[in-house]
Amino acid sequence: MRNLISIDDLDIGDISAIISLSFSMREVLEREIKKVPTLRGKVICLMFFESSTRTRVSFELAAKFLSADTVSFTPSSSAMQKGESMIDTIRTITALGADFLVVRHSKEAFPHLISKYTDIHIVNAGDGKNEHPSQALLDLFTMMREKGAKDTKELRGCAVSIIGDILHSRVARSDIKLFSKLGMNVTIVSPFTTIPPAIEKLGNIKVKKFIDEDVISSDFIMLLRIQKERHGAYFYPSEREYNAIWGIDDAMLEKLREKGTYIMHPGPMNIGVEVMPSIAYSDISLISEQVKNGVAVRMAILYYLYSMSKRE
Ligand code: CP
Repeated sequence: MRNLISIDDLDIGDISAIISLSFSMREVLEREIKKVPTLRGKVICLMFFESSTRTRVSFELAAKFLSADTVSFTPSSSAMQKGESMIDTIRTITALGADFLVVRHSKEAFPHLISKYTDIHIVNAGDGKNEHPSQALLDLFTMMREKGAKDTKELRGCAVSIIGDILHSRVARSDIKLFSKLGMNVTIVSPFTTIPPAIEKLGNIKVKKFIDEDVISSDFIMLLRIQKERHGAYFYPSEREYNAIWGIDDAMLEKLREKGTYIMHPGPMNIGVEVMPSIAYSDISLISEQVKNGVAVRMAILYYLYSMSKRE
């Protein structure tokens, strides 16, 4: 348990331990001085080859609140521009004294590949369409806080519907794996063009092409972003049509409120496409909570990886 690259790296014990630590870290974040000395003297390198707001800033804040030092690797001004290979870059960062590498890359399995060339902790902050494990853990933690659950077992049977572009979503893949592992009832709702082949191999899920009454009555609805930057072409006729068929709009707000259904979204959102502002910023939205919890959960992940390696 040196690295967090995939939800597959985690057994139920690891998940429970990270969630339990997240509750403690969330308490730290409520204090006037949000700082603990846990990772003092450790160096965390943030290596983002793709754009990010939430993940990058929350990992940096998490590191600072744990008293670690942070350093940002900027690909566009690095020696990679002079032809240095990725493997030599990773070896260089290791030799410079980093203890953790938090990495986002557009290529699937990139974090897995680089983990072969270093013994520092690798944390996957999103690899292409593959996985985003820290996002799935913060999604789970947000659900648990909302349900008042302290133990992951309490979420067994909880209904989650994930609506949107599953094919291009690393969040969906990590969420499906994590929620299924915990015995949650996962339904995906997606245009048939964005349902990946063999999706059912990721977990025990139901697949639907349209939103129905059961979806509206889920405990949680996770909306996904239409990933325009990954689309060579549209996978649905237009954004307007997507919004009309798979979007969550004003007309549904009262019904969702009545059913006690919460709306979640990993962000960034396409407001007006997958979700309307009246829903995204409403009392049934947990979207800001997800962002806030991201800091606590990432503190927990960094601390957990460090503590597990100390045991080895
Ligand atoms: N959810 C998420 O990964 O957001 P960012 O791209 O802003 O990091």
